Amino acid sequence: MTIISVIGLQWGDEGKGKVIDLLAQEAEVVVRYQGGCNAGHTVIVGGHKTVLHQIPSGVLHSGRLCVIAHGVVVDPKRLVDEIEMLEEQGIDVAQQLRISSGCHLVMPYHQRLDLAAEANRGQDRIGTTGRGIGPCYADKVARVGFRMTDLLADAEDFPERLAARVANVQRLLEALDAGGEPIDAAAITEEYLALGQRLAPLVTDTATLLQEAVAAKRSILFEGAQGALLDVDMGTYPFVTSSNTGFGSIGTGAGVSPRSVDTVIGVIKAYCTRVGEGPFPTEAHDESGEQLRERGQEYGATTGRPRRCGFFDVVAARAVIEANGVDELVVTKLDVLSDFDPLRVCVKYRIEGRETDRFPVSRREQQRVEPIYEELPGWKQDLSSVTRAEDLPAEARHYLATMQELLGVPIRLVSVGADRRQIIDCRQTRLEPVPES
Ligand code: IMP
Repeated sequence: MTIISVIGLQWGDEGKGKVIDLLAQEAEVVVRYQGGCNAGHTVIVGGHKTVLHQIPSGVLHSGRLCVIAHGVVVDPKRLVDEIEMLEEQGIDVAQQLRISSGCHLVMPYHQRLDLAAEANRGQDRIGTTGRGIGPCYADKVARVGFRMTDLLADAEDFPERLAARVANVQRLLEALDAGGEPIDAAAITEEYLALGQRLAPLVTDTATLLQEAVAAKRSILFEGAQGALLDVDMGTYPFVTSSNTGFGSIGTGAGVSPRSVDTVIGVIKAYCTRVGEGPFPTEAHDESGEQLRERGQEYGATTGRPRRCGFFDVVAARAVIEANGVDELVVTKLDVLSDFDPLRVCVKYRIEGRETDRFPVSRREQQRVEPIYEELPGWKQDLSSVTRAEDLPAEARHYLATMQELLGVPIRLVSVGADRRQIIDCRQTRLEPVPES
């Protein structure tokens, strides 16, 4: 293994945590480079479930160096909680984790701004995770944010700068009719400087560390968060997150040239889900949506919200596969589709009477998509203990072969359950469509 980037190809929750955990067996370094604690990467090992929000999922393998690079917005309080949760599990976080001094900090007022902005959006409510991610990235771009270094090397003028920023945020909250308790700049200063001291032994210049790792030809795994359809530029704007979720942001978010990546792996669920508001062309409003939610346990790992569910959307997937130059696919949750017969796959859109195989840019058009489905035969067998592609029912192999053909990218792995062991390696097996009898 060399340098691999793993990204989600839908609206997040594709099962990236498990895939990273598996690939991390062969990696020396695992890196998060965008997003923050809006992410919830679930890993189940021997029946024990761990949900990671900011720390790379590779941390569950001892000896892996895990890096939170500067493109991640860090909530230091929640990060300390996550570190302590892992330490209780016996993980040597001090040895395994490094955090960039350039990470922007999620401040307590970012969460208040997030909630206030949502309350003021009316019909345009995004359904954010409420973790302050959007306001933190907004402050970064507006050049009024605080970074990890402001709690350490640049701490001298932190209290003064924070007090000035808090005064402006207070006015903003009042204008949004979300005044509440006045923000206590002195209390935040004290709390954040203490958190800085707690995290200080882990903080370093990770861009240099990673550039050296690339030069030394160490194997590196870049762990994308959220999904490509939530990308602030390429996604269903404005119903997106506030970072670039594609593989290209490894350059800006980690300080490593995307050209050094050997393989881009796209993780894609065998059906679609979305949490929060926004266009979802194949959303199933009937009982099949409910069935997918219950069978797939589609509830948010970060917020517990029920996820919206629907059938597989080739048009949306193809758009992000092309934009990200995806080399291989990992298909997750195939087991959830047992008992759905027939299975529906959206192969084209109809928008105001016109057929297209392109994902529209206009939000009005995104909302008016009528999916055109192809029906595929389903299967009844339970797939959760299948470990070889040859042992899958012919209909399941046909489903995968159709996905592979329509997306134009080979399938590397198929996941059939949450545990590490519930995985099928497809690299040696030709997945061919089963001829109609
Ligand atoms: P934010 O990232 O909290 O601002 O939320 C913006 C949108 O992205 C909302 O629709 C969230 O539900 C969605 N979102 C953010 N992070 C994730 C994730 O890790 N998985 C799935 N959806 C997410």
